[in-house]
Order: sequence, then C-alpha cells, then structure tokens
Amino acid sequence: MRTQVGIIGSGPSGLLLSQLLHLEGIDSVILERRTQDYVLGRIRAGVLEQGMVDMLRKAGVAERLEKEGLVHEGLSICFGDRRQRIDLKKHTGKVVTVYGQTEVTKDLIDAREAAGGTLIYEAENVQIEDLDSDTPALTFLKDGKQQRLTCDFIAGCDGFRGVSRRYIPEDKLKIHERVYPFGWLGILSETRPVSDELIYVNHWRGFALCSMRSPTRSRYYIQCAYDEDLEEWTDDRFWDELRIRLPSAAAESIEMGPSIEKSIAPLRSFIAEPMRHRHLFLAGDAAHIVPPTGAKGLNLAASDIYYLSRALTAYYKDDSRTDHMDSYSRDCLKRIWKAERFSWWMTTMLHKFPDQSSFDRGMQLAELDYLFDSEAAQASLAENYVGLPY
Ligand code: APR
Ligand code: PHB
Repeated sequence: MRTQVGIIGSGPSGLLLSQLLHLEGIDSVILERRTQDYVLGRIRAGVLEQGMVDMLRKAGVAERLEKEGLVHEGLSICFGDRRQRIDLKKHTGKVVTVYGQTEVTKDLIDAREAAGGTLIYEAENVQIEDLDSDTPALTFLKDGKQQRLTCDFIAGCDGFRGVSRRYIPEDKLKIHERVYPFGWLGILSETRPVSDELIYVNHWRGFALCSMRSPTRSRYYIQCAYDEDLEEWTDDRFWDELRIRLPSAAAESIEMGPSIEKSIAPLRSFIAEPMRHRHLFLAGDAAHIVPPTGAKGLNLAASDIYYLSRALTAYYKDDSRTDHMDSYSRDCLKRIWKAERFSWWMTTMLHKFPDQSSFDRGMQLAELDYLFDSEAAQASLAENYVGLPY
C-alpha cells in the first residue's frame, strides 16, 4: 500500500490530522491496534479551548459540538469555606466548551468514514522501517497477514504507550517527567450536575472536582492514593467522601446515583523532545502528558495537529516548502511547556501532597489566598485556562 501520510493511532490527534489533510486533498491512512468499539469506549476528559473548537470547525466536525456542547464563561475554585469564581469571559473575552473527548472522537470517526477515509483497526505490531530514507514504511499484521504501507511522512499519534516515540534515536531523545504521588478516582453518573460550571476544590483531605458531560450526566473526581484499590470504593463511599470535600451548599444540593463508569487515573507531567526525527512527527500524548488539573491534554493534542497539518499542507501545496516542518518541534514545545507549567501549578496548588511540610502547606494556602484576592492572579489563571494562542 502507498499513502502520503501514514498515521499511527486513531485517537483525537490521528483522526483530526487525517480529516484536516483530507480537506486539503492530502491522502492518509490510519493504523490503530485496537477495535473501533474500544477506541470509542474510552472515557476521557472534555473541556475544549476556543482554539480546539476552531480546529474542529475547520475540520468540518463541529455540528454536534455546537448543538450539545456546554459553553462555560467561568469556573470556581474552593478551599475551606471560601469559593472564588474565575470569570473567564471578563478576563479574556473567551470561553471554554464542555464536550466529552469520546464525542469528539466519535464525530471525527464519522467524518473520516463519510469521506471514505482509510482507518485500519486491529493493526497489530505496527513498526516503522526505512526511516532514514525519503520513503519510510509502516509494517503491521492484519488478520494474520503481514502488510506494508509506504509513506512520505509518518505521524506518531499513538499516545503515551505507543511505539513511535521509540524511533527517535536515544542519543537525541530527551525526557522530562514528574510523577505525582496520588491519583484521581473518577465516576460518571446519570445525575444533574451540582453546578452549571466546574468546581475545583482544595480540601485538607485531598482535591475534588465537579464536572459534567451534559445537563443530565455528571463527572466527579476525588484525589486518592496512586495505588488505591478500586474495589474498596463503593458508590456510597465515593459520594460520602466527595460531599465531605465540597463546600457545604454544594454538598447539600448534590444529586447522587449509581456510577456508570468508575476508574482511577495516575497523574504525570511528561515531555519528550524533539518531536520530529527525519520524516517522523510525534503529536499528542505520544510526546507529552499533563496532569488533568488544567484540562489541557486534549487541547495540546489539537495544537500539535494545528502545527503538523500546517507543515504537511505547506509541503504538499506550496512547492515542498519545509520551513514549518523544520520548526514543527520548536513551535509545539513552546506552547507545550507553558501548558505543562499551568497544569503543574494547578496540581501543586490544589492537591494534598503526602510529604507536605507545614511550610509547603503555608505556601499552598498563600497561593490560594493571593488568587482569591488578586484580579491579576485570576486573569492569569483565566488566560491559561481558555488556552494560550497557537
Ligand atoms: N499501534 C497502533 N495504534 C496504537 C499503538 C500501536 N503500537 N499504540 C497505541 N495506539 C493507539 C491507541 O490504541 C489509541 O487509540 O493510538 C491511539 C492514541 O490515542 P490517545 O491516547 O487518545 O492519544 P492522542 O490521540 O494523542 O489524544 C490525546 O487523549 O489521553 C487523552 O488526555 C489525553 O486528551 C488527550 C488525548
Ligand atoms: C472532565 O470533565 O473530565 C475534566 C474537566 C476538567 C479537568 C479534568 C477533567 O481539569
């Protein structure tokens, strides 16, 4: 088989890239090791920056988002009995949109299929060959048969545990990482959200977050130990612990019900650089992970795809120009490091660290105090939350 751009992974990164290239008349093939049902079944976050919404509009997949997405002009931060609303619209003129990553993935898959795109699921043992040539290839096993896909370029959109990052030579690859000593226990429930905006809570028993997917479906998280046993968390125990951590008004009014999904996610900050080696380009979780406290994971994947689709389109449609390709890694990392900083800052300010000294705790409380009392600090949080420019 032959294509212009071979894409490993049909998560939001791979799918958005394939759709944008298609609209530019550039051919691509997606190789995904899992089934379509598995890809669509993953529960992930769902706060979209304006930049991501604009990218989805440009890709022609924003129709359902515009109908069902919840536009939020603010969010709240709580600690003790204090609650401060951060007015995103006032400080930035911008908003965020709550729309599940699962829905984004579904809309993109529908669009690829409607356009006759080539998505090969259950492609096992994907490997990259001839990366030192101008026509690298992807080899893989499909239905027991070895296949070979020759490409001009390869996009490694295969997430944190994918294969593509391994093809950046060891002597070139630099990894920057922080693993946090706690996790997030999250549930999804068919209950009315406790608030029409997100609530982030710093509590002495640990962090909590109230989010939603729709006016009738809620998403709640509480900080837990990273090696917590999910079996020990009945729904009742979850609701009890969440209500202890919430401000009293929210704790009294929260609607509770059976969880339809319950899982624990580790928290990590991770950056791999460079994000390009010859004709291989990494994008999304394949190159970086943020702790979810800043709601940046999906949005960073979208900004990578902004730079990568621009670079590939310029190459194919503007006389093989390579300036955007040559600056791809630098362009992405400039925005990635800032989003990593914001996500680390939100995580450090809002979580309980097991080995926290009284000085650390004092710093945390001073950080929150300053945030609550300073318009400038709130404006800075707002500017980062709605998304820094591409
Ligand atoms: N071969 C083929 N496909 C693979 C391989 C492989 N060796 N390894 C992983 N994949 C697939 C995964 O099954 C998954 O469907 O690559 C896809 C990667 O998708 P994501 O992990 O969703 O990564 P990305 O598209 O970059 O999206 C980033 O996902 O985790 C969230 O918070 C993150 O929101 C961010 C978004
Ligand atoms: C979510 O809705 O799942 C969500 C929202 C905001 C975050 C993290 C997760 O910061």
